[in-house]
Amino acid sequence: MFEQSSESITFDRAAEYYDQTRGFPPGVDQQVAVQFAESGRLDTNSHVLEIGIGTGRIALPLARHVGGITGVDLSRRMMARMREKQTNEDVRLVEADATQFPFASKMFDAAVAVHVFHLIPGWQEVVKELSRILKSEGFLMVGQNEHTGSNPAFRSLQEAWKSAVPAKTQRRVGVPEEKSETFLTDMGWEDAGAQTVRFQFAQSPMDYFHRLEHRLYSASWLISDDEHAQAMIALTRALEGNYPEPEVPITIDTGFEIRSFRPPQ
Ligand SMILES: C[S@@+](CC[C@H](N)C(=O)[O-])C[C@H]1O[C@@H](n2cnc3c(N)ncnc32)[C@H](O)[C@@H]1O
Repeated sequence: MFEQSSESITFDRAAEYYDQTRGFPPGVDQQVAVQFAESGRLDTNSHVLEIGIGTGRIALPLARHVGGITGVDLSRRMMARMREKQTNEDVRLVEADATQFPFASKMFDAAVAVHVFHLIPGWQEVVKELSRILKSEGFLMVGQNEHTGSNPAFRSLQEAWKSAVPAKTQRRVGVPEEKSETFLTDMGWEDAGAQTVRFQFAQSPMDYFHRLEHRLYSASWLISDDEHAQAMIALTRALEGNYPEPEVPITIDTGFEIRSFRPPQ
């Protein structure tokens, strides 16, 4: 039902729809790239590692601001999508597990991780590896989209989903949700601040409902068919009870947050 390698959750199944469902609105990808470059004090001499590079949603725009990007991923299909979009950006791909990098120590000026630590059971190993391959003055930048479901516009749908599919049912394999803000400082990394790029997009409640129905998000990949069917009953009730015009798009105010950390010295 799902793809796993070294028990990490790879995104082979999502390669076809990932960019359509996770892409930034036009221009926002460039703002995010500029913010990464500023947060990491990066310039055209900087060599950057991205773990879980996927389809290059972050790396391709960022490549224009740095000297080069090396992207690591387990999913050949996601990386093939990146190759299709790549023009002359200096992005090199390595098929590898982020728990074991095939790189020399202190090789990179910065590292980027976006929506990946929750997918890797050996996330502590990844964190240790990152402190090995980063130069001592380098930054690890952890980026994340604000979750659509946490937006007030979709709160009823999200609450219905969460009550039917709590974290335990999702069988999340990587960094637990309650540690997602603290796992790096707990391992001795220095918190170097956070910046958020704010933006808007439009989405209908029905579209969000369909994404959950068709299991487009990894939070639904490890649940059983019965658990998913129960969640859909709760979601259908929430959709019918709270959204008189479910097909009409709602403007969502959201943001992409970048948190920066320095490795333990
Ligand atoms: C949610 S996607 C994020 C992709 C990209 N960072 C972005 O934000 O668009 C997570 C990616 O991490 C990859 N991944 C999962 N476990 C991994 C591991 N242990 N080592 C390397 N990549 C991994 C998946 O295959 C997938 O492409």
